Amino acid sequence: MSDSPIKKCLFPAAGYGTRFLPTTKSMPKEMMPVVNKPLIQYGVEEAMEAGMNGMAIITGRGKRALADHFDINYELEHQIAGTDKEELLEQIRHVIDNCTFSYTRQIEMKGLGHAILTGETLIGDQPFAVVLADDLCYSPDQGVLSQMVELYKKHSCSIVAIEEVPKDETHKYGVIAGDEIEPGLIKITDMVEKPDSADAPSNLAIIGRYILTPDIFDIIRDTPPGRNNEVQITDALLTQATQGAGVLGYKFKGRRFDCGSVPGFMDASKFYFENDLY
Ligand code: G1P
Repeated sequence: MSDSPIKKCLFPAAGYGTRFLPTTKSMPKEMMPVVNKPLIQYGVEEAMEAGMNGMAIITGRGKRALADHFDINYELEHQIAGTDKEELLEQIRHVIDNCTFSYTRQIEMKGLGHAILTGETLIGDQPFAVVLADDLCYSPDQGVLSQMVELYKKHSCSIVAIEEVPKDETHKYGVIAGDEIEPGLIKITDMVEKPDSADAPSNLAIIGRYILTPDIFDIIRDTPPGRNNEVQITDALLTQATQGAGVLGYKFKGRRFDCGSVPGFMDASKFYFENDLY
């Protein structure tokens, strides 16, 4: 998909990963391996499959392992050269050889909207994708981002991936409502960040895949802190949906694992191991 109109993908990766303490005390949660590959690499590979080659990573203190992962380790590679271990590095070498990586630090944790705004300097004035690496998406025929890029080509507006969740889990997600304009495609009219089930406009939850048009940066700048006193991308997207170019919700094809939670992470590990997907 080299003709993709979306070349850059942003990975907000500054969070603390408190649900995986003590592991995440000194290790980024994005480096947690599902079998033998870190979560962030699955996300980067999904972005590559969708035609992107500029990977922009929002890091924070204690996250240097991320930059080291997407770099050459000469000593290690020299040691295993010519042995049967060499092939274990093939995939990551392919990633490194075909992408550029840029990094900036989010100094204070002020929410996902704020993290995305921090990435403006790496993205510039072009549409871009966002991947939350702890949502691991398995989609054998076509990756979720690639599905979304195809939609972007047709609609040229921001798109969020959505899935149905049980009503009593809406408090974990951004939740949307709107009008179904095609099967599985919803023109969004309402969005609420982590509503209680009684206040949720539907059971359609946003999962960690977004395509955003660059006017979102100015909108985020004008978005006051919302849920948890943090600047929420959900609130900025509601403004874009109702006062801007519109936002679509897309029921993606595939299966999502919530690797930000221990049960979801264990499900993913079992599924990827048993199906030889690593
Ligand atoms: C973030 C977003 C939320 C979205 C979720 C998907 O929440 O704020 O709208 O539904 O990712 O995983 P987080 O899980 O970072 O608290």
